[in-house]
Amino acid sequence: MRIMSEELKRARESSILKAIEYIKDGMVVGFGTGSTMAQAVNYIKKKIQENEFTIFFIPTSFQSRQILLENQLQVTSLYEHPEPDLMIDSFDQVDRNGDAIKGGGGAMMMEKVIAQASKKVIFIGDYMKLVDRLNIPIPIEILEDAYPHIKKTLDKMNLKLRLRESTGKMGPVISENGNIIGDVDAGLIEDPERLDRVLRSIAGVLETGIFPKLADKIIIGRIDQSIEEIDIQRKRL
Ligand code: A5P
Repeated sequence: MRIMSEELKRARESSILKAIEYIKDGMVVGFGTGSTMAQAVNYIKKKIQENEFTIFFIPTSFQSRQILLENQLQVTSLYEHPEPDLMIDSFDQVDRNGDAIKGGGGAMMMEKVIAQASKKVIFIGDYMKLVDRLNIPIPIEILEDAYPHIKKTLDKMNLKLRLRESTGKMGPVISENGNIIGDVDAGLIEDPERLDRVLRSIAGVLETGIFPKLADKIIIGRIDQSIEEIDIQRKRL
């Protein structure tokens, strides 16, 4: 986990402020997971209160539901609103092509579902997360009984799988969906979309943290409060 300095918080703040300009009265908004979104909720709440907006949010995890409820924001689900107007979320790493790695918080399955379902997707984050080529380990959600098969298959592909260890219990982290989480070290990632396909082709890999061009816009915040907006030709189904 990254140490969050005041400077990084400031850098994030400018990306948050830009993103919330896209929130309009009456919208249904997908709400991501992680410390950036925990920071963003205060600004979102202020905007809603000041403008007397009616907004419904779709949380992507237990954490994001709790944050929304603690802030007296209205929560709904894809059952009521299968096509949210907007999703705002963060990421662990992104490149300028718009490929991102997510899942540091283990919530990538629902994050991907809501990103794919939403009319517009905005990812926000600080400049430290923007790289030329993706290179951090890729979170994967694993069906527990398939773990030996997945490990062996990844070994054959020369990819190293590490189970993510829980700090609150013995053994692996259990996802929101009751599955185990691992991280695959693939070094420098040449072709994120292809790697996503390869990983998901292994039976028992339920989801990966590779988000290949799943956002319309990425907003990067810098310490001097400037922002960089990267517009992406988003892949839609
Ligand atoms: C959650 O599963 C992730 O996809 C998050 O979006 C990601 O880990 C960003 O987290 P921070 O905002 O804490 O950096």
